[in-house]
Amino acid sequence: MLKLKNISYSVKTENGKLQILDNICLSFEKGKTYAITGHNGSGKSTLAKIIMGIIKPTSGSVELDGQDITSLSPTKRAKLGIAFAFQQPVRFKGVTIGDMLSVASKDSATFDDHCNNLSAVGLCAREYINRELDASLSGGELKRIELALALARKTPVNIFDEPEAGIDLWSFDALIGIFKKLKDKNYTNIIVSHQEKLLKTADEIVVISGGKVEKQGNPSDILKTLSTSAISCNRLRGEQ
Ligand SMILES: Nc1ncnc2c1ncn2[C@@H]1O[C@H](COP(=O)(O)OP(=O)(O)OP(=O)(O)O)[C@@H](O)[C@H]1O
Ligand SMILES: [Mg+2]
Repeated sequence: MLKLKNISYSVKTENGKLQILDNICLSFEKGKTYAITGHNGSGKSTLAKIIMGIIKPTSGSVELDGQDITSLSPTKRAKLGIAFAFQQPVRFKGVTIGDMLSVASKDSATFDDHCNNLSAVGLCAREYINRELDASLSGGELKRIELALALARKTPVNIFDEPEAGIDLWSFDALIGIFKKLKDKNYTNIIVSHQEKLLKTADEIVVISGGKVEKQGNPSDILKTLSTSAISCNRLRGEQ
């Protein structure tokens, strides 16, 4: 079980202190998929980065299976089995997609495994395996490769920050299929998303508003309260 206990995060700006996250308490169980949603700027990516250890909370703690991991680096957290797929994936010049898949699978995977993981995200292994993970890849290709790496990793805790960003409409159902596949396994998946179709695949939706948990619950209950109307947008922003 992954637990966030009273997580707050603030930064100093020219205009004084900016409270980005305010006393967030959440528990993520094994074998369940959680969707985190909320208005732009509500604090979702910040929360995801705190779970991965990319940024440290101003106060509060992160626990994994009873161990306090708040002070651990992202590398140490990765060794404990937490993986992160960025909203804007990082490129690595000089490293091929095949190399990255081997690293992700800790060299235990065969070429066929790489092939399966690339096909699952709609990429042909023959075309991509020897390509460099560099600026020549399109944004959508890069996002797909991140997902293939997540499938290869088989880590117990997977965090995805807007996996749908840059994925074309035609491939969206395939993306849903990937999350259903990950759901079959005994993983904790945390997906930051704005897409209703993706939110529906979760066991639980957490709505963040103004750095706080506004509500959480099963998709059918939560989605009823999140219409696309302006009123609901205002509510997500924390306005009345
Ligand atoms: N270091 C920082 N200095 C100033 N403001 C920051 C800093 N880090 C984050 N913010 C602000 O905190 C807010 C939350 O950012 P965050 O990236 O978590 O939002 P988000 O919910 O992921 O939004 P989106 O849906 O657009 O991805 C934003 O208004 C952002 O500009
Ligand atoms: Mg974000």
